[in-house]
Amino acid sequence: MNEMSRISTDATILDAPEDRFPIDLSRRITSVRDLFYAAAKNQWDPRRDIAWDSFEKANYTEEQLWAARNAWSRRAWLEYGAISESPAIQIRFAREGRESDLGLFFTIRSQEEARHAEVCYLFAEACGGYIEAPPLREYESNVETHGVRKMALDPDGLLEALIAALVCAAEEVAFDVFKHLSEITTDPIARACCRGITRDEVRHCAFGWHYMAKRIPEMGPDELRKIEKAVAIMIQNVEMNGYHSAWLAQDDGEATRFDMECDRITWEAGLGSTVEEAEKPIFIATVKRIREQMREWGCELPEFHHPRTGTI
Ligand SMILES: [Fe+2]
Ligand SMILES: [Fe+2]
Repeated sequence: MNEMSRISTDATILDAPEDRFPIDLSRRITSVRDLFYAAAKNQWDPRRDIAWDSFEKANYTEEQLWAARNAWSRRAWLEYGAISESPAIQIRFAREGRESDLGLFFTIRSQEEARHAEVCYLFAEACGGYIEAPPLREYESNVETHGVRKMALDPDGLLEALIAALVCAAEEVAFDVFKHLSEITTDPIARACCRGITRDEVRHCAFGWHYMAKRIPEMGPDELRKIEKAVAIMIQNVEMNGYHSAWLAQDDGEATRFDMECDRITWEAGLGSTVEEAEKPIFIATVKRIREQMREWGCELPEFHHPRTGTI
């Protein structure tokens, strides 16, 4: 079984004996502690800080609003899913006696993911109503994370590999998607939602790179290979399977076609989606940048293949 799909059957991190003290709350990783302070200062409230009353719903057709409801509901499901990984990682920081800067930052990171879920939900509501479940069950395979999140609870899974895959790969892709959406979305309320999320995601990504910069010099060759493998699986099997962007789904099933159609109509309306032709160069550049940055760690990502992007 591969590293990412192997879930320990007999022990989770909660089964490890508790050894809480001493608790060192001093600043150990300055860059991460500074992110915690920045995050604490930059809180925003999706209900108060977005001018919902000025949303011009009458400017859009029924079809456009219907597509946007679907696109933003899908996004809310992803953001809500992200909420579950934060506390699991946080438990590991505490149980493994990691630097307190990490746990402090992650408390706010969890809140920020909750805020993202809410802002997506509120925009779907503004368009006519949030949708609680995908209309087609096959959809679920497009947002499958192949056990990556469960790895957070597996004491044998390398924490650094998990952070590299979830943060330096998946959040880096998410950041670039939202930055792109912030630039191309013409509806002012949809754009404000995208910008709010983008501002938080900057810090989430920075966390991953700061933390890995601290840990990489202490990693041996075996650990570096595990990090490479975790990131490669995240890119090839999760991102290049439509996790953030429906056009990257590798199947041509009804759920994928439905999502792509919703994205196209929402994109044309300027309500906060994108399509293959607009996003492809951005996605390719993201993957290349991750590969370059990981070379500085002594990691070499493999080539990635996808029928729509070619080999990256
Ligand atoms: Fe998020
Ligand atoms: Fe995030």
